[in-house]
Amino acid sequence: MNNNALDFKFYNFKILTSTNDKAKELAKKGKYNLIIITKKQKKGKGRFGRKWSSGLGGLYMTILLKEKNLDKVRYLTLIASIAVAKSIRKITKLNALVKWPNDVLIDNKKICGILTETVSNANNYTLIGIGVNINQKKFDKKIINKATSLKIEINKNYNIKNISKTIIKEFNNLYNYYNTKNYKKIINIWKKYSHTFGKEIKAKTLSGVYIGKAVNIDDNCNLMLRLNNGRIKKIVEGDIFVV
Ligand code: BTN
Repeated sequence: MNNNALDFKFYNFKILTSTNDKAKELAKKGKYNLIIITKKQKKGKGRFGRKWSSGLGGLYMTILLKEKNLDKVRYLTLIASIAVAKSIRKITKLNALVKWPNDVLIDNKKICGILTETVSNANNYTLIGIGVNINQKKFDKKIINKATSLKIEINKNYNIKNISKTIIKEFNNLYNYYNTKNYKKIINIWKKYSHTFGKEIKAKTLSGVYIGKAVNIDDNCNLMLRLNNGRIKKIVEGDIFVV
């Protein structure tokens, strides 16, 4: 453990609508530095209002933190994705990679998604919702070709609690860099785990589709693409695909 480690209080549930919603409820009551875990979710949420498949066998967890400065919270999504990739590598030896901005992939299939949300009232809060596919044997037709789980990859059941503990430990270690504003270090670690960095990618954003090489992440965690005409395009939000 490092000196700046967060001291979390744990809340465990059998079923919730969504761990992120529960975290918002607790944030409104002034609680923070806590982790909410549930065995399944009735309405698991993904980015852009998408649904997150949340049946038994997955890890559904939200880390709720009080944050002075909401400008840098995108780094928390990065460190959460690195923490998950590192944990999967340690536990399984699978080559887990992070995908900008919030996914972890194995063999190009999604094994983890992260939904970071903020709440501002008298204080600022950040909730980092982490979904990891662990013991699910299969997924809905809609996502069957895009999603995977540890069970599908290795044909073995894993202890979800142990995996959550490993992820939290890794998150805590990386949080040290966030806490000391060492954002460069976070970006450098992210690059080592990245599935995207240095690759030719297609970015689908609200303003259009862009194809180019992922050459960097800027200070605000935006993805920088070098387009074919040499111009650098900043991707703030969207979905990316390796082409
Ligand atoms: C995405 O890939 O679009 C993000 C998915 C995030 C899913 C997790 S599961 C725990 C937490 N609770 C939710 O409702 N969503 C996040």
